[in-house]
This record gives sequence, C-alpha cells and structure tokens, in this order.
Amino acid sequence: MSALLSAMLLLAPTGTGRAPVGAQVRLGRSPRSLIVARAFGADGCSEAGAATPAGARDARSPLGADAERIEREVYLHPEDMPYREGTRPESALALGLANFRRQGRTLLEQSVRATAALLGRPDPALSAKPPGCLALTLSNEEVAAAERRREEAGSGIPAHPVARALYDVGCAFLDRFFDGRPIERFWFLETIARVPYFAYVSMLHLYETFGWWRAPGLRQVHSAEEWNELHHLLIMEALGGDARWSDRFLGYHAAVVYYWLLIPTYLFSPAVAYQFMELLEAHAVDTYSTFVRLNRKALAALPPPSVARSYYLDGDLYLFDDFQQRLPGSRRPPCGTLLDVFVNICEDEGEHVKTMRACQDYAQLGTVVTSPHLPPPRSQSVAAADGSFGGGARLAAEWQPEPSAADVAAAKERREAWARWSAQVRTEMAGGSDGVV
Ligand SMILES: [Fe+2]
Ligand SMILES: [Fe+2]
Repeated sequence: MSALLSAMLLLAPTGTGRAPVGAQVRLGRSPRSLIVARAFGADGCSEAGAATPAGARDARSPLGADAERIEREVYLHPEDMPYREGTRPESALALGLANFRRQGRTLLEQSVRATAALLGRPDPALSAKPPGCLALTLSNEEVAAAERRREEAGSGIPAHPVARALYDVGCAFLDRFFDGRPIERFWFLETIARVPYFAYVSMLHLYETFGWWRAPGLRQVHSAEEWNELHHLLIMEALGGDARWSDRFLGYHAAVVYYWLLIPTYLFSPAVAYQFMELLEAHAVDTYSTFVRLNRKALAALPPPSVARSYYLDGDLYLFDDFQQRLPGSRRPPCGTLLDVFVNICEDEGEHVKTMRACQDYAQLGTVVTSPHLPPPRSQSVAAADGSFGGGARLAAEWQPEPSAADVAAAKERREAWARWSAQVRTEMAGGSDGVV
C-alpha cells in the first residue's frame, strides 16, 4: 500500500500553472480540441457564449448544433473510460481481479507519460482531451477568500477543534494535490461527498434492524442526497475528472477510509457526524461559486453533458426533489449550458448544507427531517415555525412549533445567517442563480 502511495505521489502533478481567467482553450490537433476551440471562437470565447448576458440561464443551449457535437465528441462516455467498473454483478474476486487489470494498464500508461514529461516530452494528447482542452481554472486563494467572507458574514460552522483541524489539513492537501486541476479536484470531492450519506443510511438501517429507532423518512432523504452527489460525480467523469490513475487511486481509498471514520462517529454522535459534513458541503459551495465566477464565459460557451440534462431537466425528478428540504417541484433550474450545470451543482451543495444543519437540529432539538414527499409526522414537534426548513411552508404549517426552547432561537439565527450568506453567493455568481439556494 505504502509503495503504491509513494508511486502515486511521485506521479502527481506539482501545479501546472493556471489558465487566465476567461479560460483560453489550449489548441491541439485532435477533433476534440478543434470542436471546443470552435465553440470558444478564435479569441477564446464564442459569440454565443459572449452574447449570453450574465445571469441569463436559458433552458436551451446557446451553442445550437455544436452543442450535440461537443456532447458526443468532446465529453467522455463509458466507452472512453476503459478503467471504469464492470458490467454485471460478479464475485468480489472476479470484479477485483478485472479491476486490477484495467487499473494496472492505466497505471503503466501514466508512468510512461510522467517519465516522458520529466524528459521534456509531454504527451500532447493530454491537453487535447477533457479536462485539459477545456482549460478551466480555479484559484486556491480565491476559494479561501470566499470561505473567509462566509465566516465573517456569520455563516461559519462552530466545529470541534479536532474536526476543524482535520478539515484544514484536508483543504491544504486538496490545494496542493489538485492545484491547476479543478475538474479533477471536483471529481475527488464528489467521490468523497457520497460516502457520508451512505454511512448515515448504514447506521439508520442498523438502528432499524435492531429495533432501536426507525426513521425511514430521514433515510430516504440521505439516499436522495447520495443520488445527487452521484450525479455530480458522473458530470465530472464526463468532463474527464477521473482520467488519471493516481486520482482514482486516491479517491477510491480515501472514500473507504472516510466511511469507516464516519461510522463510529455517527455511533457516538450523529450531530458531530452531520456537522463535519456541513463543513465539507459549505466548502463545496465556496469552491463551486468561485469556479463559476472565474470561468463564467467559458462555461457559458459549452453545453451540458447529457447526464446533467437527464438529472436536472429530462428525467424523473422525484429524487432531485427528495434530497431538498423544500416543496417538491419548487426548484426547477435551467440546464442549457455548462454554466447552468455548475450553478446548479453549487446550489445543490447549498441544499446539502441546509439539510446537514437541519439534521443537527433534529439530533439536538428533535426537529424532524423527512422526505418532502412524505406526510410530516404530526406527533413530533418541530421548531421550524417559519417554514425555512423541515419541508417548506406547507409542512411547517401542518407541524406544531415548539414554543419554548431558547435553542429554537439559536437554530433560527443559524438559518438566517445561512440566508444572508446564500444571498452573497448568488451575488458573487453574478446573477447566475434563480434564488433557490
Ligand atoms: Fe456534490
Ligand atoms: Fe456535496
């Protein structure tokens, strides 16, 4: 294991430098880069993208016929990813061996490329495929500044010092390991982001099995949250986020470690387990909103991957509604460009923050969190008299508020601080939101 980790770190990039804001395309000779270059136009961004006013989020792609071509020929699909998982349920032994063969091949390829790069002969194919040919950028300093602004606005998370230290170390590692590689960073984060919801479901299932406590509505919300994070992950894969063996190795193993850290944490304190995830989800909002701000024109000139259209627009939106603490059907964001996709993801992360905060109130105050599709449990009191969480105004009106606890006032203040920060994030994304955070 340690030998593999050493190999991975040796192969890791040490910062590739950042493309200028407004993302210029790295021109290559492959069909992929030529198609993307055409979308952006000779001076970096297409007429269509440039003509899209800040804040306009049309349901249709501004790229017209090019949108389908970019989706088909530039973005990645399962057949472009020979390192992806198997095709049917098999024994762990069969799946594991097949996976070692696939991953081993790509490990060798990456080693050859890294060696060639060290010898001054970088592989031009890398910059001709996503995410290289998209030339999207992210600034660690700007993400840190966004986090500082949020905390100064009163939306900091009062985490335990140990949790905060772990979080800070994790962020420093991300900044170093994924410097200049935002899509790979997002792929890694989305791989990790699915794990807690699965861990929470595992624990709730265990409690149900033992007959200790039954909360199918909460379990349903966590399942829908995991489904949402899965789609963020699939979007990043379509953009080439997991193309490197070293990133996949790190993501897969970090996810397993994270799962087994969260299980005992939830065992002793669900509130702490939820709070740590609130930290990560708030960081995701800071990161995605900064990314949107820095790449607005480039993102507006690219179409959404088909998986994003399916999740936000064309498919069955039951699970999309189910992970959010709002009335079903009350959030229907557009998905005509890659800009829409990233704004939607950012707003999704904001919904996760709200849910994680509501879950802590559930653990500490008894304010129920359940699927917005289910009738609220009338027997349980709820502090959300203003309807700002717990399923929206309809549910809050049906539930009976808890009139006395001073903790309710503190919970309300936390939600109001969140609302102020949400407004700030929307402003920073230059009107790219419909006000649904
Ligand atoms: Fe996510
Ligand atoms: Fe998330």
